[in-house]
Amino acid sequence: MSADAHEADRLSPGFPPPTVGSGPLAEPVAQSFARLSPDQRGALVAARDELTRFVMAYQFGLEEMLTKVNILKDEFSYVHDYNPIEHVSSRLKSPEGILAKAVRKGCPLRVDAIREQIFDIAGIRITCSFIADTYTIRDMLMSQEDVTVVEVKDYIAHPKENGYKSLHLIVQVPVFLSDRVEHVKVEIQIRTIAMDFWASLEHKIYYKYDGDVPQTLLDELRDAATVANRLDVKMERLHQEVSRLPHASAAETSEPSSALEAVPAELLQTLFQQIGRETGT
Ligand code: GTP
Ligand code: MG
Repeated sequence: MSADAHEADRLSPGFPPPTVGSGPLAEPVAQSFARLSPDQRGALVAARDELTRFVMAYQFGLEEMLTKVNILKDEFSYVHDYNPIEHVSSRLKSPEGILAKAVRKGCPLRVDAIREQIFDIAGIRITCSFIADTYTIRDMLMSQEDVTVVEVKDYIAHPKENGYKSLHLIVQVPVFLSDRVEHVKVEIQIRTIAMDFWASLEHKIYYKYDGDVPQTLLDELRDAATVANRLDVKMERLHQEVSRLPHASAAETSEPSSALEAVPAELLQTLFQQIGRETGT
């Protein structure tokens, strides 16, 4: 496992809400800026604007993908009366983070090269209840017409040596800007709650030991990954068993469904009348 593999987490612990924009220049930068020739200053301002516009496109791409995920989440719970998505978080890499990664990867510091070589500028993490849900969400996202799948890594079927499990997708979505369309890559990590629990602990331990984790801890982590997987399998089996049990439908119970509660009474009445007319009842 390379330090790079943890970079997304390290740069933005907890995947905070996305932000973008260039604040005021730091004092030493402002002093250096004052010493530049007008031409150099112009070039630097143009480069900064280019980077800001570049990152902005990723923010829009991220928002588009987040909307897609949230639509699936809401629609799924409405149609299936069950929510496969427990939690969604996202993060946008900072310009410094992008440049640091480009330097580490030996990528030229130009936006065209960065666009081609760095795939995780925009990142989404989806936590699901059960293993089957991770694949369901993956398939639903991958089958959308405007989503191009660039890369799929199935670390659930093929866990990493240390025990890490997750589904990783790199997808590309079109972002319609005022003067052009940009195709923006977004990294999506899909995992269960147990896998997520394991990954955040492993990540903390990795950084605590600066990457040099003692063998005993590595062994324990691998054990913990096996236990987490056993829990996932057991919970999924229980869930399937319970889903097979007959349950009273909303019509048979006195409790109205929350979706129906949200519809104003007059609208419901009109809808019932309309359905009655159409079906002749
Ligand atoms: P780069 O984007 O160049 O790093 O490509 P890669 O092939 O190393 O990416 P990969 O799909 O393997 O991992 C992408 C992200 O998944 C990382 O930035 C982490 O957030 C997460 N990840 C990958 N491996 C591990 C791991 O062993 N432990 C934890 N906690 N997270 C991991
Ligand atoms: Mg990465």
